[in-house]
Amino acid sequence: MARTKTVYACTECGGASPKWQGQCPHCGAWNTLVESLAAPVSTRFESVAGMRSTVTALASVTAQESERIATGLAEFDRVLGGGLVAGGVVLLGGDPGIGKSTLLLQASAALGAARKTLYVTGEESVEQVALRAQRLGLVQAPVMLLAEVQLEAIVAAIGELAPEVVVIDSIQTVYTEALQSAPGSVAQVRECAAQLTRLAKKRGIVIVFVGHVTKEGALAGPRVLEHIVDTVLYFEGDPHSSFRLVRAIKNRFGAANELGVFAMTERGLRGVANPSALFLSQHGGPVPGSVVTATLEGSRPLLVEVQALVDPTQGGMPRRLAVGLDAQRLALLLAVLHRHGGVDTGGYDVFVNAVGGVRIGEPAGDLAIVMAVESSLKNRPLPDKSIVFGEVGLAGEVRPVQRGQERIREAVKLGFTTVIVPLANQPRHAIDGARIMAVQRVDEALDRLREG
Ligand code: TYD
Ligand code: MG
Repeated sequence: MARTKTVYACTECGGASPKWQGQCPHCGAWNTLVESLAAPVSTRFESVAGMRSTVTALASVTAQESERIATGLAEFDRVLGGGLVAGGVVLLGGDPGIGKSTLLLQASAALGAARKTLYVTGEESVEQVALRAQRLGLVQAPVMLLAEVQLEAIVAAIGELAPEVVVIDSIQTVYTEALQSAPGSVAQVRECAAQLTRLAKKRGIVIVFVGHVTKEGALAGPRVLEHIVDTVLYFEGDPHSSFRLVRAIKNRFGAANELGVFAMTERGLRGVANPSALFLSQHGGPVPGSVVTATLEGSRPLLVEVQALVDPTQGGMPRRLAVGLDAQRLALLLAVLHRHGGVDTGGYDVFVNAVGGVRIGEPAGDLAIVMAVESSLKNRPLPDKSIVFGEVGLAGEVRPVQRGQERIREAVKLGFTTVIVPLANQPRHAIDGARIMAVQRVDEALDRLREG
């Protein structure tokens, strides 16, 4: 095969160099040169851009909702915004071992019944995939398997078999002969993904890429692909818990921030249709340091237990540890608690944990964290069946959060009777069976806690 000419392009300024250098000769940036194909854009894109585009008035375009291809896994369909879309390219990123291959094999098996599905495995042999299928009870599934890592061979197979859905597991193992960089490098991953994406658009097929999040995070990980693909999903979850969350980070065909919840079982991933009570531990009664909060995950509220343990420091620097929350945020909240709540944690170790491997990414959990710390420090539990949410500001104010009513309703539905909320989130009408306590400031919330 004829070698295509490659150049090294700077990711900062775009300047091209004929060979790799540590520093870009054009802009002086370090470690920014990445190998790429030297062929002019026009020839590389010819297949797609064969026709000239014409200018159209927006009003004259009749757009239709694209038809959804249901994967047969309701939770997966939910994050996708209703299912896969023909011509759409999806990236499923996540740590190794989290369950990406399992999810996609299950989805392929269900899809295969109605659509021709090709599963390209670059990491495992077909026997290994078959072994997993056996475990999942899917040996009879109508899925075509291909163990291949060379881009050109994969493209040829797609041309030959004409599948409607293709899974590439994983994009980091795919390489093209045209580039000299090692498989998994930024140049290879980007070029292979770009070529497959063009193929998907041209043929109107669905391609799902698996992408590993490397330890270093950005380098050659799914990050470099996020702008190429239509939908970016991240698979997360604590490896020690059986729950797995699939989160939509970007979706050209639906709402981002959607969340699918799965449980990893002996026989693969099982969707959890009603996850809001999943992340609550079952205490017999109220426990000091434990506060339940309502966070919002995509379009649905999720009740999560926040636990704090505040203990005198045994010599040395006080330790602060946050699991499932932002550590910086914890430091900030401890400062607010000191200044505006009069609670000094200076001589104490503070550990805070969101139960069940869930991550609380929004500030609505602030007030729960503050109250959990105070509750643990004073060894005094919150009233039984109580729930807390609200953002805490640096001035000690409690700020409203979005969609407060939905959070309150979800909490009441699950049997919570005392709800501590920001004043602006106070419902206009009384809610049956719920005692609503609206607070404006952190110290006010703490007073409520002290009163019981
Ligand atoms: P896998 O899908 O191979 O992860 P990834 O492709 O993201 O690297 O999942 C591997 C883990 O899932 C492994 O630790 C075993 C576990 N697992 C189950 O618990 N039950 C099952 O039925 C299967 C297939 C895997
Ligand atoms: Mg895998």
